[in-house]
Amino acid sequence: MFTLVYTSRMPASTANTTLTDLLVAARAKNASLGVTGLLLHKSGKVMQALEGDEATVRALVAVISLDPRHKDFWVITEENRDTRFFADWSMRFIEPTDAQLDVIGPNYWAESRADELLTWFSNNQV
Ligand SMILES: Cc1cc2nc3c(=O)[nH]c(=O)nc-3n(C[C@H](O)[C@H](O)[C@H](O)COP(=O)(O)O)c2cc1C
Repeated sequence: MFTLVYTSRMPASTANTTLTDLLVAARAKNASLGVTGLLLHKSGKVMQALEGDEATVRALVAVISLDPRHKDFWVITEENRDTRFFADWSMRFIEPTDAQLDVIGPNYWAESRADELLTWFSNNQV
């Protein structure tokens, strides 16, 4: 099992509509590929975790990285793991509140905290 996390940006004014629009197709495609994960959006900042077979995830990430709907695409972590964080989700979508992010603490978007962030969202119903 392979997990890749990236960050990117999109205009905050259109991010919610853009992401909810693309999620329907993305979830169907992820389900057919055996890919699960989490898509986070906050104020124009995007973070996505994709988990599944390594070659499949890398091929999908190559497509997503070229998508003109976002920019400043940057892979922050890649790792082999025994289990999935989001086994039940073809792509969970969360727009966290400031209060939730306060619980997680400072620098929640940092590479060094990506595992903690995924663990928090996989353990909390938001
Ligand atoms: C922020 C963001 C996240 C995306 N996440 C996914 C995803 O999880 N799965 C997916 O299939 N496409 C995702 N896409 C869409 C892909 O970039 C691409 O449009 C899509 O995979 C093409 O599918 P198609 O080859 O069936 O036309 C995402 C796009 C953006 C901008």
